[in-house]
Amino acid sequence: MKAFVTCYSRTGTTLKVAEEIARALGCDMEQIITRDDPGKGVIGFLTAGMNSILDAGMKVRRLEHDLESHGLVVIGTPVWAGRISNPVRKILEVFHGKLSKVAFFSTYGMACPASLFDEMARKIGKEPIDTLALHVDEVNSGRGSEKIMAFVETLKRA
Ligand SMILES: Cc1cc2nc3c(=O)[nH]c(=O)nc-3n(C[C@H](O)[C@H](O)[C@H](O)COP(=O)(O)O)c2cc1C
Repeated sequence: MKAFVTCYSRTGTTLKVAEEIARALGCDMEQIITRDDPGKGVIGFLTAGMNSILDAGMKVRRLEHDLESHGLVVIGTPVWAGRISNPVRKILEVFHGKLSKVAFFSTYGMACPASLFDEMARKIGKEPIDTLALHVDEVNSGRGSEKIMAFVETLKRA
């Protein structure tokens, strides 16, 4: 099955996980890029959080890869204000009902609510094969690699 990995990442944590998953699956990946990124500073943090709460702002660039031609699409998001980051929410809405199999992952600084993956499933109109949530420390220390490999093994069996 031809797999593909995509994610949004503001500060590189979710991207690191996406790259590790894509490497382990031996597949392509593409980062979701915003057209109106609020920036990396405090103002950017507050704007992103507010956008997430209000479900507003942050237009995304069209992905170069054709997601619909892949048998499995793995989608990753950072947790923003307890929810899906806006750029990923937009992508999920664009591909609602259009993908055959999906899996989700997230990275977070405090906690990943169970409702996050439920919301992702609702937005894309499909239940995931598997989900994975990693704390930023697990990603940066490499301690999360075992969980990533277990996630990948489940996806390979799907
Ligand atoms: C606007 C904003 C809101 C966030 N809200 C939460 C949150 O509600 N819960 C949480 O655990 N982490 C939260 N975080 C932390 C991120 O989820 C965490 O640092 C994540 O790994 C960042 O991923 P990235 O480096 O790929 O952007 C927030 C970060 C930002 C920028």
